[in-house]
Order: sequence, then C-alpha cells, then structure tokens
Amino acid sequence: MLSGRNEVIYSSYKNTTYQMKVNEYGVLLHLYYGRKISDVVMDYTLKNYDRGFSGNPYEADKDRTFSLDTVPQEFPGTGVGDYRINCVNVENADGSGLADFRYVSHKIRDSKYFIPGLPAVYDETDEAKTLIILLEDPVTHLQAKLFYGVLEDNDIITRTVVYINNGKEDIKLTKAYSACLDLPFGEWDLVHFHGRHCMERQMERVSSMNGIKSIESKRGASSHHHNPFVILCEPNTNEEYGDCYGMMFVYSGNHKTQIETDQTGATRVVMGIHEEHFGWNLSAGESFYAPEVILTYSAHGFEKLSQNYHETIRTNICRGKYKVARRPILINNWEATYFDFDEEKIYTIAKSASELGIEMLVLDDGWFGVRNNDFAGLGDWFVNEEKLKGGLPKLVKRVNDLGMKFGIWVEPEMVNEDTNLYREHPEWVLKVPSRNPNRSRYQLVLDMSRPEVIDYLFDCYTKIFDSTNIEYVKWDMNRSIADVFSTNLPANRQGEVYHRYVLGVYELLDRLEKRYPNLLIEGCAGGGGRFDAGMLYYTPQIWCSDDTDAIERLQIQYGTSFGYPVSTMGAHVSASPNHQTGRNTSLETRGVVAMSGTFGYELDLGLLGEEEKNEVKAQVETFKRYYDLIQDGKYYRLSNAMDAIDYCAWQFVAKDQGETLVNMVQIRPRANGRLIHLKFKGLNPEALYQLDGSEEVFNGAALMYGGYTFERKAGDFPTYQLHFIRVK
Ligand code: GLA
Repeated sequence: MLSGRNEVIYSSYKNTTYQMKVNEYGVLLHLYYGRKISDVVMDYTLKNYDRGFSGNPYEADKDRTFSLDTVPQEFPGTGVGDYRINCVNVENADGSGLADFRYVSHKIRDSKYFIPGLPAVYDETDEAKTLIILLEDPVTHLQAKLFYGVLEDNDIITRTVVYINNGKEDIKLTKAYSACLDLPFGEWDLVHFHGRHCMERQMERVSSMNGIKSIESKRGASSHHHNPFVILCEPNTNEEYGDCYGMMFVYSGNHKTQIETDQTGATRVVMGIHEEHFGWNLSAGESFYAPEVILTYSAHGFEKLSQNYHETIRTNICRGKYKVARRPILINNWEATYFDFDEEKIYTIAKSASELGIEMLVLDDGWFGVRNNDFAGLGDWFVNEEKLKGGLPKLVKRVNDLGMKFGIWVEPEMVNEDTNLYREHPEWVLKVPSRNPNRSRYQLVLDMSRPEVIDYLFDCYTKIFDSTNIEYVKWDMNRSIADVFSTNLPANRQGEVYHRYVLGVYELLDRLEKRYPNLLIEGCAGGGGRFDAGMLYYTPQIWCSDDTDAIERLQIQYGTSFGYPVSTMGAHVSASPNHQTGRNTSLETRGVVAMSGTFGYELDLGLLGEEEKNEVKAQVETFKRYYDLIQDGKYYRLSNAMDAIDYCAWQFVAKDQGETLVNMVQIRPRANGRLIHLKFKGLNPEALYQLDGSEEVFNGAALMYGGYTFERKAGDFPTYQLHFIRVK
C-alpha cells in the first residue's frame, strides 16, 4: 500500500525553499524550510545514530540508528516511539491510542484549497498552489491529509490537515492539531504576545530553552491573554536582520501552541485547537477539518515577517466591500455616555461629530431590551423605546440626514438571565443541567453549537437590519466561556461543543455577510479578546483594546503590529483624563496614535472647546489625506515600544516609495535632554523627499542611513507626525 519511498517533495519559491522526504520506511521527514536553496536535497544534514532510550520502528530491524524520536518529521503520530510534542491523540476501537502516519501519495493542485465552514487564506490571482500529501496509519486506516497552500509573493505557506477515518471502526480524535514545524538545528528565541483585558498583545521575547513552553487559551475565544501567533527567531534577530518564522492560527476559539527543544537540540512547534475538553468522533468514512495555520519565513528580521503577514491579511484574509473601500471615520458613544443616553443625547453627539467631518455614528451597548446596566437585556434584540422614542428607523434617519452613516453594537453570543430569551429558552445556554453556571459580567453564553440558536439570532438581526439603514455592526463578545455542555448533544459528543461553538459563530457571520454584502462588521471581545486571523476573515477590523489611553496603546498596537496590519486595528481618540488610566495626554497625541489604526472618536465632542473642535476637524482631514498611505502602505517599527523609555516611533511608506509618514511620541520630558535621532526606512535612496510644510528637501539615502534629528518638545507626551513627499 505504501508508495513513494525515498521520494523528495521539494518546493522552491521566490525566496524560500521547503523540503520533505519520504524515507525508506514511508516516514515523511522534514528536511528544510528557510532561505532559498536550489536543486540540493538537504537530507545530507541528517545523521542518524544510536541514542539510548530512543527506540526503533520494527521495520528498521537491526538498525538501531533510525528512531522516530530523533528525526525531524512533517506530521508525527502518537504512541509509536516519538516522545516529543505531537499533533494528534486518538482512541481507537480496540482501546489503543496509537497513530502511525506513513506516506501514501501526494499531488499538486493549481489553486488554493478552501476549508468547509472555516476561514482560510484565499487567492484571487490564480497563482496560489496547493500541495496535498496523504498519510495513513496502516492498521486503523486513520488518514491525515496534509494541505500546504503557497502564496509565493508574500513568502506564505498555509497548512491544514483533514483527518479521515478510512477504516471500518470508530475512532475518536482527542487531539487534532493543524501543523507541526520541526527546526532540526539552531537556537531559537520565542516571541509571543500575551496580555490581559485592557492590555492585549504585549510582546515578549524569551531565549531558547530546553523543555516545553505552551501558549494557549481555554477561554472559548482566542483571548486577551495569549494571541494565537508566535515567532521563532535566531537569537541575533532584530527588525532588519536574522532568520525568523511565524506561525499564526486562523481560528477564534481554544488554541494551543507548544514549542519544545529536545535532547538532540532540535526545536519543534505544534499548533492547533486546544486538546483539553476536545473530542471528535469519527465513524467510518467521516472527516474532521482542522483550522488553518499561516506560516511565513523571513531572512530579514521581524520587519519583513510582519510585512508578509500584513499583506496576506489585507489581501487574502479580509474580504468584502471594506477590504478596499475607505472605512468611515466614526464616533462611538460608549465612553461618552455608557448606558446613560436617550435619542436626543445620541443625536447631539452625532450632530457635533458631523460638523467636524466625522462620517458615522456608532450606537454602542444599551439600545435594546431593558438594558440600562449590564444586569439585563442581552438576548432581547428589540429596541428600547424608552430610550429611543420612535425606534431605530427614526434615529437612523435623523443621523443619515446629517450626512452620516449609522452603525450599531450587538453581542449575539450572550444572554442575561433577566431577559425574555432566557425565560423562554433556558436550554439554549452552555451549562451542565445539574450545576449552576459561572456568571461573568452577569451574562451566560448561548449555545452557538445549536442550529436553532443561530437561526434565532439571524432572524433577530435581519429584522433590525431590514427595518432601517444600518451600515456597520460592532460584534462584541464580553466573557470567557465556561460550563461547556450542550443539551443538544449526547454524552459522548460533549468534546465537540467548544469547536462547534466557533463554527456556529462563523456560520452566523457568514449568513449575515451574504445577506448584507455592504455591511462593515467590526469584531470586538471586551476590546481585543478575539483578535485573530479567523475573525478577520469576517470582520476586517477589530476593536484593539478597551484601553484607549494613547500611551498604553503604543505598546498594544506595537505588539499587534507583529502579525496584523494597522487596517485591522480599531483605535479611537477618547477623553482626557483617560477613563482607564486617568492619564492626561494632548488631543494631538491621542490623534496621532489613533490614526495608526481604523480611526475614530469615542468621547462627548460637545464638551470640547472651539479650539479643540478645530483640532478634531484638522485631524479628520489629516487622516483622510493619509488614509491610503496608512492603511495600505508598508509599516515599519522604528523603536521597541516595550522598553520605550524616551520615545516610541513608527513609519508608513507608500508601496511606490512616493511618500512617507513618520510618527513619534516622546515618552518623557527631560531637562537638557538628548536630541532624538531616527533613521527612516523603506525609502528610495536616490529619490528626493520634501518635508510637508517646509522648504526642506532630503535625499532618501540621507534620511535612511544618516537619519533625522528631532528637537525635544516640552511637556508630557508630545508628538511628531512628519510627512515627506517625493519630489524627484
Ligand atoms: C465591551 C467593548 C466596549 C463596549 C462595551 C459595551 O467592553 O469592548 O467597547 O462596547 O463592551 O458593553
């Protein structure tokens, strides 16, 4: 049955090479992933020798040098002599827990694969290719069909696995990860993005270690706490130099990434759906589709790695009208009013915003049910006429008459106990019938694995969206999930609930997007608690954090920028002192920081004086002027925001190098301080660039290699925003 022994599966792209080899026992070895190497089979780097306590497959007979425990593999099995972290655990019909994947066949397809029900990178150019490799356990006939999608221009390789029960007996998957990457040699630092509510995606770099490190979420969402994205880099890697690999999960639920450096010094990374509370029954003939992982490799440090992801997310993940159309500058009433508003108050906010050039009013939490605080209302998706007399159509019309679009907040996945919905359908929440569930923000979680819940929500929202002109939706999700149990599924299928929940969320988003193709949906989960490539497939922007403090945002947006483009980061100018930290910052500073995102405001503009209103007007104009440069240009980090003691700086450069925008926030005032000197990036060294508002002209090489000197400004957190345009 096994074929193709000693076959090399060899893929060389523009800048990278990925190589595998089927060895004499049908084991799919990983040979190489990295900078392009043409026409050389890299198996000469592997030298097997007898290591104690690393046993040998039976077929190896007297050869004690070959062990699954010590060779780099593409997709290791379980229970068959490789003791490192792995991708799969099974319960076979005979009670055994083994899966021994051996090569069967492979083929190449001239298009990028799709994954049913799950978000994945797509390609509209017809240039992407897919490599499909079929592996099978010779006894149970469990198959792992490995998919590799290739987007050559951005140095992207996507991966996923379809698990197929090709045997006759039931198999239960108790772990079904998406990808394994073995780095057989070298030392690697791990860069990951941890955090908490109001402080997401804090970049941390840890040196290579022996043993295992895990980055994971069991919260039902990708989480504020550990983003499903890691970078492995050589210890000398910085923004511009060094080999680095990124692995990003296109998934919004529980996840786990493990990194292990083993006895041989090799490093293995595996990524997939977290196996805790996971179990998937595969009867004969059934399949399970694992979510996608996006890999990229950069031989030129973090800058190139991030730019690969930015381009891919903008072009091959985000979809819909607002993938390219300019997104409206919005005013959101949350930090202006919280729950305390009525129609007149909202209209007044919209009116003062429209006078300043702001283009959309977003009505946040509190417009529906009996929602005057967070004790009640979630789930009753009909308008609260006590607050909004005349209902939504009247308010929307008044806002539209101001020349503004209208957007609305929803939190579909949740329910308060004090609602009609919960009183009518207590069985629709995630909860073990014999136990009391955890409450969080006084809310319970709807069982999104139930089709009737998805239908109910779809009907509620279509009623609202059909009743009036709603052009934007903020889709929130304000708690971690617990008490995962669905009364809709039998006892032996409860391990499916977490994943089916995520599939339900995706399905509802998909149905709504098909029905309302012009709707802009912004993702949100208590700020950035579900900021991942899976959500970005449906929602091209995500509220980055509930922390709107401009100085805290420097670190949050910095960390986020390693994997995600600024066009995905919801960022607003809010009041000073800031509601989360109490810090004072100037309107200018708040504006410059929020402009490095999907720009908007979240404060009562009516409280501003004339001078500040004029400043807002100017900011809005500035953002419109630089929109393409910011949203579509290349992004460069000019400093490390995690230890920004003196300043924090970043830069946008147009793809044609015709203009650049340099942003810098001075972090602390210093008496007799040193000048701040920065070297710009990404310019054409031979071109001449003129600084806006001045006669000064600089050569690109001078700005990049010689740099630019800023005079220090006095006071707290002053800001520079310099725009240079190519004149020759
Ligand atoms: C979450 C969001 C906020 C706001 C509130 C409303 O915390 O992140 O922006 O919408 O919910 O309850």
